[in-house]
Parts: sequence; C-alpha cells; structure tokens
Amino acid sequence: MRNRLIGLAVVTLILTGISAIADAQKNEIKDNACIGCHSSVGATKGIINDWSQSKHAANNVTCDKCHTADAGDKDSFSHNGFLITRTVSPRDCSKCHPSQVSQFSAGKHSIGWKKMEDAARYKAIPNDKMRASMCEGCHSVGKVHADGSAGKCDSCHTRHVFSKVEARQPEACETCHMGLDHEQIEYYRTSKHGVISDIDRNTTRVPTCVTCHADGGTHDVSQGITLGTVSQGAFISNNNSGDTSVTDQYGIVQRSITREDFNAGRARMLSICSRCHSTSFASDVLARADEIKMQSDAKLVRQ
Ligand code: HEC
Ligand code: HEC
Ligand code: HEC
Ligand code: HEC
Ligand code: HEC
Ligand code: HEC
Ligand code: HEC
Ligand code: HEC
Repeated sequence: MRNRLIGLAVVTLILTGISAIADAQKNEIKDNACIGCHSSVGATKGIINDWSQSKHAANNVTCDKCHTADAGDKDSFSHNGFLITRTVSPRDCSKCHPSQVSQFSAGKHSIGWKKMEDAARYKAIPNDKMRASMCEGCHSVGKVHADGSAGKCDSCHTRHVFSKVEARQPEACETCHMGLDHEQIEYYRTSKHGVISDIDRNTTRVPTCVTCHADGGTHDVSQGITLGTVSQGAFISNNNSGDTSVTDQYGIVQRSITREDFNAGRARMLSICSRCHSTSFASDVLARADEIKMQSDAKLVRQ
C-alpha cells in the first residue's frame, strides 16, 4: 500500500511538471506578437488555423521562427515593427532540419527551376505572367530564393500544417507529376500497385511513390533513377554528364550516365522491389521498360 502511495505521488509530481511546461509554452505562444496580432485582428485566419494543427505549433515553432529576416536580406520588408520575409527558403528550414535540406539539394528537385529557365520553350513565352502560370507552379519545387538556396519545401507537405503523413500520399506528388509529359500518377493509379492502394489506403502490401523514390525518408528523389523515360532522362555512355544535358547518338538532348552508375542505381531500386518480389521478376520488368525507352528514342529521330 505504502509503495503504491509513493508511486502515485511520483506520478502526480511528473504530471504536474509536464502540465507546468505545457502551460509555460501556451503562455509563450499567447504572448507571441505575430500570433497575438494576427488572431486579434483576424488576419490570415486559415493560416493561423493550419499552423495550430501542426507539429510546429506543438513545439513552439511560431511564425517568427521561420519568417524573421536578417538585415540586408534581399526579400525582407518591415512589418509592424518586425523585419520579415514572405518567402521562407530551405536555408531557413535548415536551421532546424539540416539533413532533409542537404538530401533535397542532392536530388533533381533542387534543379527544377534552373532547368526550366534554361529551356528554349520557356524563353519563347511572351511574358512573366504567362511563364508563371504555364511553368513555374510545378518547377517552383526547385525555386531559387533571394538567399541563393533552392527549393520549395511546401511542395509536398503544404503550409502551414507541414505534415509528413500528407507528404507520403501519392496525391502530394500528383499536382506536378500528371498530364502529358509526365504522367506518373496516371501510370501509378492504373497499375496493380495503385489499384490495390486505392482499394485499401492503409495497406502496406503495395508501394506508393515515396516507397520507391524516398526510401527511408530520404529527400533525394534521384536515388535509384537511371534512364528515365522516352526522349528525356539519360542514355548509357562512357562519361557521366551529371546534371548537364548532352546529345545522344540520335541527336536527342538528354543526360548521359556510365554503365557503372546505371548498375549501382538499378541495384538500389531492385533492393526495394525485392522486399516483396523476387529479384529476377523485378529485374526483368525494369529491363523491359529500358528496352522500350531505348528503342523509342531511336525511332523518334528516324521518322
Ligand atoms: C499589429 C498586427 C500584426 C503583427 C504584430 C504582425 N502582423 Fe503580420 N500581418 C498583419 C496584417 C493585418 C496582415 C495583412 C493580411 C492581409 O493582407 O489580408 C499581415 C500580413 C502578414 C504577412 C503577409 C505579407 C504579404 O505582403 O503578403 C506575413 C508573412 C506576416 N503578416 C507575418 C507576420 C509575422 C512573421 C509576424 C511576427 C514577426 C507578424 N506578421 C506580425 C498584422 C500583423
Ligand atoms: C515552419 C516554417 C513556417 C512557420 C512556422 C510559418 N510559416 Fe508562413 N510560410 C512558410 C513558407 C515555407 C511559406 C511559403 C513561402 C514561399 O512561397 O516561398 C510561407 C508563407 C506565408 C505567407 C504568404 C503566403 C500566403 O498563403 O498568404 C503568409 C501570409 C504566412 N506564411 C504567414 C504566417 C503566419 C501568420 C505564421 C504563424 C501563424 C506562419 N506563417 C508560420 C513557412 C512558415
Ligand atoms: C526553429 C526550428 C524549426 C524551423 C525553422 C522549422 N522547423 Fe520543422 N520542425 C521543428 C520541430 C521542433 C518539429 C517537431 C519534431 C518532432 O516532432 O520530432 C518539426 C517538424 C517538422 C515536420 C514533420 C511534421 C510531422 O508531421 O511529423 C516537417 C515536415 C517540418 N518540420 C518541415 C519544416 C519546413 C518545411 C520548414 C521550413 C519552411 C521547417 N520545418 C522549419 C522545428 C523547426
Ligand atoms: C511542385 C511540383 C512537384 C511536386 C509536388 C513533386 N515533384 Fe517530383 N519533380 C518535379 C519537377 C519539376 C521535376 C523535374 C526536375 C528536373 O529534372 O529539372 C521532378 C522530378 C522528379 C523525379 C525525377 C528525379 C530524377 O533524378 O530524374 C522524381 C523521382 C520525382 N520528381 C518524384 C517525386 C515524388 C515521389 C513526389 C511526391 C512525394 C514529387 N516528386 C513531388 C516537380 C514536383
Ligand atoms: C504539371 C506540372 C508541370 C508543368 C506545368 C511544367 N512542367 Fe516541366 N516538368 C515537370 C515534371 C514533373 C518534370 C520531370 C519529368 C520526368 O522526369 O519524367 C518536368 C521536366 C521538365 C524539363 C526537363 C528537366 C531535366 O532535368 O531535364 C524541362 C526543361 C521542363 N520540364 C520545362 C518546362 C517548361 C518550360 C514548362 C512551361 C512551358 C514546364 N516545364 C511546365 C512538371 C511540369
Ligand atoms: C517531394 C516531396 C517533398 C518535398 C519537396 C519535401 N519533403 Fe519533407 N517529407 C516528404 C515525405 C514523403 C516525408 C515523410 C518521410 C517518411 O518519414 O516517410 C517528409 C518528411 C519531412 C520531415 C520529417 C522528418 C522526420 O523524420 O520526422 C521534415 C523535417 C521535412 N520533411 C522537411 C523538409 C524540408 C526542410 C524540405 C525542403 C528542403 C522538404 N521537407 C521538402 C516529402 C517532401
Ligand atoms: C514500384 C516502385 C515505384 C513506384 C510506386 C513509383 N515509381 Fe517512379 N519510378 C520507378 C522506377 C523503377 C523508375 C525508373 C528508374 C530508372 O530510370 O531506372 C521510375 C521513374 C520515375 C520518374 C523519372 C522519370 C524520368 O523520365 O526521368 C519520376 C518523375 C517518377 N518515377 C515519379 C513517380 C511518382 C510521382 C510516383 C507516384 C505517382 C511513382 N514514381 C511511383 C519506380 C516507382
Ligand atoms: C511493398 C511490396 C511491393 C514492392 C516494394 C513492389 N511491389 Fe510490385 N507488387 C506488389 C503486389 C502485392 C502486387 C500485386 C500482385 C498481383 O498482381 O497479384 C504487385 C504487382 C506488381 C506487378 C504487376 C503484377 C504482375 O504479376 O505482373 C509488377 C510488374 C510489379 N509489381 C513490379 C514491381 C517492381 C519493378 C518493383 C520495384 C521497382 C515493385 N513491384 C515493388 C508488391 C510490391
């Protein structure tokens, strides 16, 4: 009995301790100038509401933690006595999430903006407003910010909830990976993987986009990509051209990779398939897709 009472007293002490910390945090948030004013004047109600549901709110990551700018920042402006920015960049997130930002920077998402700007069909569009609505919505995934860092972290976990559960759904990729030049969502939805996932959204029987492209939670979506698709992606050659586009033997502009890099990328992807399929089954499926890409590249030019 005595032991039980002591136990109870200890539990009560711990609980009071926790609620004291929670109260202090709530007070700090209530006293926060940004949230205080935005709530009392009813400005950006939806944002306050979204933020309140986030892990950030639960951890006292208030508006100023992301939006405060340093004197001299090109995109800063003064706002009710504070120097802030509207465009929170990956560099701002990296103060607390350095590994996600460095993984992201290693993958192709981080060059999406630059590649778009370099494209002849982008330059041919008559004006900025049209360029913004025709191309930039999707390619902003690699937006280059005033501080030089590249990326838009709210592309998959939308602001201001910033939820990882949301980012794991195929719909998080769908806004960009859809339609004629990049119909990945259509391929996925109509595949056995996608159909089974539609029938039971909670199943772990089948992979979703992030199972294959963000294995282990990595933000480098280029891991395991080798040739990609017809008339873009890459071809095998003696040199690895990195992110630079070169011309293949048929005159198509794409990247080149060495046989060694092809083998390493393919082995990485197959290690994911092999969690469910036999390696030889999966390897045959991918080899058939490679064959279609290579033969189509050749055909495209001969016509
Ligand atoms: C005294 C009241 C007040 C304070 C303090 C305040 N804001 Fe605001 N803020 C507003 C109002 C009002 C708007 C305008 C909303 C609109 O355009 O509908 C606004 C707009 C903004 C915008 C959008 C600006 C734009 O041009 O698009 C951002 C970002 C912002 N606030 C962030 C912050 C941050 C971060 C803090 C704290 C460092 C803060 N605010 C403090 C009242 C305030
Ligand atoms: C975890 C970091 C983070 C926190 C915390 C945060 N924001 Fe943001 N905010 C962003 C990002 C990222 C963007 C998008 C920037 C871009 O488009 O380049 C953004 C954009 C905005 C915008 C402009 C876009 C729009 O939809 O109007 C406003 C206004 C804004 N935030 C207000 C707030 C307010 C108010 C708070 C506090 C309740 C807050 N933010 C907290 C990261 C944050
Ligand atoms: C001041 C530090 C700080 C900054 C700046 C910050 N975060 Fe966070 N973030 C946190 C903390 C703390 C957590 C909660 C971690 C946990 O629960 O383990 C978190 C959690 C997250 C999560 C996971 C949410 C979930 O569903 O579990 C995402 C996604 C995220 N942050 C994205 C961002 C992005 C994007 C930015 C920049 C726009 C950013 N954060 C800026 C501190 C920060
Ligand atoms: C805001 C738009 C946008 C969203 C959302 C988006 N992507 Fe992308 N993604 C792009 C663009 C643009 C490129 C092409 C970048 C380039 O090559 O310049 C790309 C390229 C890729 C590549 C090719 C990488 C390579 O090395 O060839 C993969 C894989 C990928 N995305 C996976 C995903 C997954 C998985 C999701 C969802 C979790 C996702 N993307 C969400 C815009 C987006
Ligand atoms: C619906 C979203 C979306 C729109 C709109 C869009 N793109 Fe893309 N773009 C993508 C995705 C996704 C990829 C990656 C495709 C893949 O790897 O299969 C891509 C790839 C590219 C590439 C190849 C990048 C590389 O690394 O080789 C270029 C160049 C490009 N887009 C330019 C443009 C231009 C210019 C526009 C406007 C006329 C535009 N895009 C509009 C989503 C989009
Ligand atoms: C292509 C989509 C996509 C983009 C763009 C993206 N994320 Fe994520 N993020 C995810 C996914 C998916 C997860 C969940 C990973 C998992 O645990 O399965 C995640 C999880 C996170 C987490 C939680 C990590 C943890 O272990 O709890 C943080 C923090 C985060 N992202 C930060 C960022 C930052 C910072 C950026 C910008 C550099 C960013 N994300 C851009 C898809 C994305
Ligand atoms: C079963 C695993 C798997 C799933 C699920 C999956 N992919 Fe892929 N994805 C691959 C493989 C394998 C490739 C080709 C890799 C290569 O080039 O060797 C690929 C290629 C890609 C490419 C690059 C194409 C190019 O032309 O460069 C993009 C972009 C992409 N996937 C996006 C997505 C999106 C978005 C989803 C979800 C809608 C998705 N993938 C679902 C395995 C998968
Ligand atoms: C999380 C488990 C899982 C992973 C990872 C996975 N698959 Fe599957 N896959 C399945 C299941 C379950 C089915 C449905 C089996 C059926 O059709 O009866 C399936 C079906 C298929 C099918 C069509 C059915 C058939 O028999 O032809 C192909 C092709 C396929 N997977 C290829 C791949 C490839 C390639 C990879 C890796 C890039 C991969 N899968 C990764 C679980 C997985």
